[in-house]
Amino acid sequence: MSEEAIKIGLLGLGTVGSGAYKIIEKNQDLLKSRTGIGFEVTKILVSNPQKKRRVNVPQELLTTDTSSILHDPQIDVVVELMGGVTASYHYIKEALEQGKYVVTANKDLMATKGEELHRLAAEKNVKIFYEASVGGGIPLIRPLQNSLGANRILRIMGIINGTTNYILTKMSLESMDFDSALAEAQAKGFAEKDPSSDLEGWDAAYKLAILARLAFDSAIDIDDVHREGISMVDIRDIQYAKELGFTIKLLAIGEDLEKGIALKVHPTLVPLNHPLASVNHEFNALFVEGDAVGEVMFFGRGAGEMPTGSSVVADLMDAAREIKLGDKSPSLQPSEKRNILPVSELVSPFYLRLQATDEPGVFGYLATVFGGENISLDMIIQKRSEGGIAEIVLVTHAVQEKKLEAALNKVHKFAAIERVASVYRVIEKK
Ligand SMILES: NC(=O)c1ccc[n+]([C@@H]2O[C@H](COP(=O)([O-])OP(=O)(O)OC[C@H]3O[C@@H](n4cnc5c(N)ncnc54)[C@H](OP(=O)(O)O)[C@@H]3O)[C@@H](O)[C@H]2O)c1
Repeated sequence: MSEEAIKIGLLGLGTVGSGAYKIIEKNQDLLKSRTGIGFEVTKILVSNPQKKRRVNVPQELLTTDTSSILHDPQIDVVVELMGGVTASYHYIKEALEQGKYVVTANKDLMATKGEELHRLAAEKNVKIFYEASVGGGIPLIRPLQNSLGANRILRIMGIINGTTNYILTKMSLESMDFDSALAEAQAKGFAEKDPSSDLEGWDAAYKLAILARLAFDSAIDIDDVHREGISMVDIRDIQYAKELGFTIKLLAIGEDLEKGIALKVHPTLVPLNHPLASVNHEFNALFVEGDAVGEVMFFGRGAGEMPTGSSVVADLMDAAREIKLGDKSPSLQPSEKRNILPVSELVSPFYLRLQATDEPGVFGYLATVFGGENISLDMIIQKRSEGGIAEIVLVTHAVQEKKLEAALNKVHKFAAIERVASVYRVIEKK
């Protein structure tokens, strides 16, 4: 057992940085008894050293001089918890160049530059760890790499953005409209002032890209992920979904199909008896299906100071074991890019909400158009008209997306159809 402590340079002391620092301080003895190594934060980069902090830190640890961390030969591990992609990318690269291990919680960076950073780390015989970048405190990266490593992963599917899940839960359980649910999420700290990355599905797409890289052994570009956000989800869709036995969730789905990989993030109707339907508020969950293990589900807090700090410190423990004890885990192997399937080729049941003038012949027309594309309908509800406009809700059986699009192009042309108000994919009821 090494008596010498591992020396840590933190880049950032915001939400996650404070959580990581608190855990290192509070659980110092536990970390040492589990690894045989002491953990010492020796410097912390911040942008404003005078700012009031959520954690008590000796003032002399704070610095605005990046070089004093990246070029300090005493520092073994650089922990990047600043966010953003420009400065953090340069700092992480420099840390790796200097032969330091890196821990990061930065999903945007790992999704877009992960391949390059892994390559550089391998060249320098160090590692970059990033458990906290997906699912906050829920272990996902390590299980995909290690515990489930003997499986061919067939599917990953989950709720990996807490902000959108909080909003959809409020709309669903308390019939709140979208704007009020978003305002409440912001007031409680579950949504940022500018929530667009969460609402438009970018955050979930970055996380899916990171998970899919591990699950499907393929290089993944963020543009490979088909992305739809929740800002168009109407309270009426939530109510109709409930009537039909579903709830609406923003799902991230990756599948290893016969002809390639499918990657998508979109609002989805989930059957009420599906385990993901009861993952509510800010919680996250990921379903993983492996060819040997079958289905496994991970559930917990996907963000926050202490949960995310927990993953950061677990990474630090792994880095410390490698550095001090030579206990090396395998490096991520570079992967060729596999075929990524366009959504037009994918198959799923669909939920449609149409607004039509209340006149005879509309149902007959819809039946002809969908029948013409071999699309069979599973469920239909028609709601009484308001101001001469009736609302028709349809759920199709599984259909290839390009066939649905062809049918919808015809539906749009029918004068009695005022609007195709919503189109969402559906997880089939079992
Ligand atoms: N928050 C979560 O629950 C959560 C969950 C999972 C992953 N993450 C990821 O964790 C990372 C950190 O998130 P966070 O919520 O902790 O962010 P945050 O609260 O905004 O903290 C960022 C910290 O970095 C410092 N900083 C930012 N830019 C800097 C620069 N150019 N030079 C020096 N210092 C700089 C800030 O300094 P000052 O304090 O002086 O302003 C602050 O201490 C992000 O990549 C985020 O995506 C966050």
